[in-house]
Amino acid sequence: DYSSKVDSVLSLMTLDEKIGQLNQYTGNWQATGPVVEDSTKIEQIKAGRVGAMLNIKGVKYTREMQNYAMQSRLRIPLLFGQDVIHGLRTIYPIPLGEAASFDLDLMERTAAGAAEEASAQGIHWTFAPMVDITRDARWGRVMEGAGEDTWYGSRVAEARVRGFQGDDLADTHTVMACAKHFAAYGAAIAGKDYNTVDISDLTLHDTYLPPFRAAANAGVATFMNSFNDINGIPATGNAYIQRDILKEGWAFSGFIVSDWGSVKEMVAHGYASDLKASAEIAIHAGCDMDMESRAYHKHLKELVEEGVVDIKYVDEAVKRILLKKFQLGLFDDPYRYCDEEREKKTVLSTRLRDLSRESGRKSVVLLKNERQALPLSLSCRRIALIGALANSQKDMMGFWANEGVEKEVVTVYEGLKRRFPNVTVNYADGYDLETNDLRLSEARAAANRADVIVVAVGERFNQSGEAKSRADIAINANQQLLVKELKKTGKTVIVLLMGGRPMIFNDMEPHADAILLTWWLGTESGNAIADIISGDYNPSGKLPMTFPAHVGQIPVYYNYKSTGRPESKTVAYSCRYQDIDFEPAYPFGYGLSYTTFQLSEPKTSANVYAMEDTIRVSAKLKNTGTCRGKETVQLYIRDLVASVTRPVKELKGFQQIELNPGEEKEVTFILSSSDFSFMDRNLKYVTEPGKFEIMIGTNSKEVKKAIISLK
Ligand code: IFM
Repeated sequence: DYSSKVDSVLSLMTLDEKIGQLNQYTGNWQATGPVVEDSTKIEQIKAGRVGAMLNIKGVKYTREMQNYAMQSRLRIPLLFGQDVIHGLRTIYPIPLGEAASFDLDLMERTAAGAAEEASAQGIHWTFAPMVDITRDARWGRVMEGAGEDTWYGSRVAEARVRGFQGDDLADTHTVMACAKHFAAYGAAIAGKDYNTVDISDLTLHDTYLPPFRAAANAGVATFMNSFNDINGIPATGNAYIQRDILKEGWAFSGFIVSDWGSVKEMVAHGYASDLKASAEIAIHAGCDMDMESRAYHKHLKELVEEGVVDIKYVDEAVKRILLKKFQLGLFDDPYRYCDEEREKKTVLSTRLRDLSRESGRKSVVLLKNERQALPLSLSCRRIALIGALANSQKDMMGFWANEGVEKEVVTVYEGLKRRFPNVTVNYADGYDLETNDLRLSEARAAANRADVIVVAVGERFNQSGEAKSRADIAINANQQLLVKELKKTGKTVIVLLMGGRPMIFNDMEPHADAILLTWWLGTESGNAIADIISGDYNPSGKLPMTFPAHVGQIPVYYNYKSTGRPESKTVAYSCRYQDIDFEPAYPFGYGLSYTTFQLSEPKTSANVYAMEDTIRVSAKLKNTGTCRGKETVQLYIRDLVASVTRPVKELKGFQQIELNPGEEKEVTFILSSSDFSFMDRNLKYVTEPGKFEIMIGTNSKEVKKAIISLK
């Protein structure tokens, strides 16, 4: 218990020093927001006017900054934060991609790997995981989260928090995690970054908040508020969100950091008249640390002296921040994360690279595989590898990989050559990376010389991510045309689809024999993809976000609600579009394997249950194909009649089963009445008696049903 130590430090602090703890500045390296030039930062650190930094690279630099803090009167150590979103130097698959693995243990391990590397580089705190629910693929930041599903997003949030933090913040191999962006940033209207959020309380609580709550319950040390306004009040100045829900409702004892400049941005929102007013609003609303707005730094003192802000608000924020500094052990030794030897041994170690490769191959989703185009036949002697993305190290790392080093990335070209030393791999760009102008003749020449064509298409690293919203998420027309042209050779065409979001590719789809969704897989991209192409690893990924067939369907997600006139292809006056189908291209939970599986009808242990009963649901899964493979059996429910309308399907569990050809296993799910609970109109969790559908499937669309009643 550090509370008496925190109190005793607080009692020594001047008002300036207290406000200093609430102030965070970026370092000189790789800005992640609009920089305000300020040559006085170091003097401010020495004067105890800075509590935390971000974007400080490596042990040498963090040590140097900490040295300045140690020259301040009270020698309160600095915190160093960083966006360790999918690794620091060893880059893992983007979080959305990794969510496709449906492997929570893996996600915990990669977060732990990232924490190990980040902490070895002097970092105490990552601005991750992003736990925003994302249902609009136009939003560039979908790449940072776990996709569209609330229940799954909550499990991933827990796993990632556990991975980053371990069970002891004082362990120098872990870092503080940060659940962001609080809250409902993923519901930005029309998928435009930073945009307004206008949602009902019910949707906020039932759909968007649960992953944050799961992170809080898992002990996440910090939260970051979001840029958006929610129902008229910017999140940074929103006391309902930050105080009533998070700090009081969920008894969160960590601290809340603003997003970059989000305190001052309340002026542009039209919610604060000036910088001073924004400081007043933010501190009252519960935002503890001001990242790069300088609003607290410039105005909090006068606000306290004028009696506008009670010192108790400042004290509360300082105490929350000091507590974390104590828990990290920084008061005992401010340099405990600054060990050059450890940094050298840890960064980009073989173990971490292997972990990245494992995560990479488990994140790949097989979307199509006609006539067993994949895995590559043993008789294949010549591969034509086409598409500039297949040979671009920068693009394989993806967005939010600032610390990743291009030359350390294994491209697909490199990966295939290593895996198939006796096969000729002829590479051709196919298109210009910048302009997408086609380079057809060399592509055709390579294709004509080959037994099989592998072609990489999709997004460059900077086409998804922060401020990377797009109105059209279709793959570039020229790239799609390239696939069509290559198919004219009559040879097998395998498409590698790279990118950070659901994409649309209707034009090329018919011309591809196989499609592998390979996201942005990070440092080991090429090796991981070669593992899949060769069949060394049988793909097992499943989509964590619905892939729309048309941009006009967005937002499109599997757990929508029924209307009074449910979607129908034949009924005229039904919930549908006149010009396009309502079916997405690929549903949530979808992903093929090189083998095939058969799932039996679900069996429930009874038809009628009391609320306190245990509900067992089982089904048999059989591998009906020719190779060993892993299937993710998914369990969905539907509350048929409730006091507020409920989605047509809700994921409540999944299990990954690995089977040999011909092997069969029983899969059993154990449910309790709490799995059927939801937020009622009074924002209380209830389980209402009645009938429920229980659905089991290998994706969210093709399910088999049973009905049970809860009394
Ligand atoms: O952590 C990020 C956040 O997600 C977006 N704005 C900048 C922050 C710090 O880099």
